Amino acid sequence: MKGLILAGGAGTRLRPITNTSAKQLVPVANKPILFYGIEDMVAAGITEIGIIVGDTRDEIMEAAGDGSRWGIEITYIPQDAPLGLAHCVLIAQDVLGNDSFVMYLGDNMLQQGLTEFVERFRAAQDAGGADAPAAQILLAHVDDPRQFGVAEVNDAGEVVRLVEKPDDPPSDLALVGVYLFDRHIQEAVRAIEPSDRGELEITDAIQWLLDHGHRVVHDVLVGWWIDTGKKDPILASNRYILETIEPTNHGSVDDASTIEGRVVIEEGAKIIESRVRGPAIIGRNTRIERSYVGPFTSIAADCEVIDSEIDHSVVLERSRIAGIDGMADSLIGRDVEVSRSGQRPGALRLMLGDHSKIDLE
Ligand code: TTP
Repeated sequence: MKGLILAGGAGTRLRPITNTSAKQLVPVANKPILFYGIEDMVAAGITEIGIIVGDTRDEIMEAAGDGSRWGIEITYIPQDAPLGLAHCVLIAQDVLGNDSFVMYLGDNMLQQGLTEFVERFRAAQDAGGADAPAAQILLAHVDDPRQFGVAEVNDAGEVVRLVEKPDDPPSDLALVGVYLFDRHIQEAVRAIEPSDRGELEITDAIQWLLDHGHRVVHDVLVGWWIDTGKKDPILASNRYILETIEPTNHGSVDDASTIEGRVVIEEGAKIIESRVRGPAIIGRNTRIERSYVGPFTSIAADCEVIDSEIDHSVVLERSRIAGIDGMADSLIGRDVEVSRSGQRPGALRLMLGDHSKIDLE
């Protein structure tokens, strides 16, 4: 079984904040979103991964490298324009060969991991012979299915029809960005035509499989799932990931400080006369001094938080926060400086780009 991660497509609106054009590289709990997908594949025993890259290919290739850090082999597949998810399968053919594969949208995150899904598909393939499913899709119950690709499923659990963003949805089961396919999908992506929006749609390719007598089965996802390309994703995904971390301390905490709950303190970080209440992560060589860091906060490497209170926020590398009480629900970019020289007002809500500098009176 191979892996195919889709990390082409348009860039991120968050570029001014995160200093990366690739939405798949926006950090969540101090790790790029893309790496969660790669690591889920590795955990499921996949060691050969193709990554579709577009305009942001240089950044992505530099970040993920050749895969050796995970003990796997990554092959990059350039896509000239975002011509659709099924187009990605088409251009990945040389890398995929006739193998079954997991396809994963590089801007999605799942709580559940991939191992169970991959094992179930493998087992069905081994047992099924000619009757083995050609695809296994991941679905999730959603509140408003009209924004998604939606599946109609029969009582036997077989997918009978897929519709893209329907006005009248046949169910509340939306396609999540994970699909397992065998070689038949190659025939499907060659057979379909571009949709009205000019893309080769994976929903059409899966519908082609159904129309040509292939079985498509499904799993319903348990736990959270975030399409980070959609809305207000960073604080939410940060919160979800921090809920899963195991506490570790590779830095130093002085006697005057308290650490409560699950807190990751990375190498070289210093906690001085401060209180950190997890879940939270304090990045490499970051200094927290005479401050309170509250739950659901990720502070990246090489930051300083001095005489401040910060809660439910994400702070990226090399930023400095000094003399700020009650910062909450904030996303702070790289190399940002927030400081205060005067009296304290109420809560602050900030969204600051790279190299911003504000001094509150
Ligand atoms: P999106 O553009 O979010 O694809 P979508 O079909 O989910 O979007 P929509 O809500 O408009 O239906 O892209 C999902 C991921 O796939 C993202 O990481 C970019 C990548 N991608 C490619 O690599 N190539 C492509 O041609 C497309 C469309 C997406």
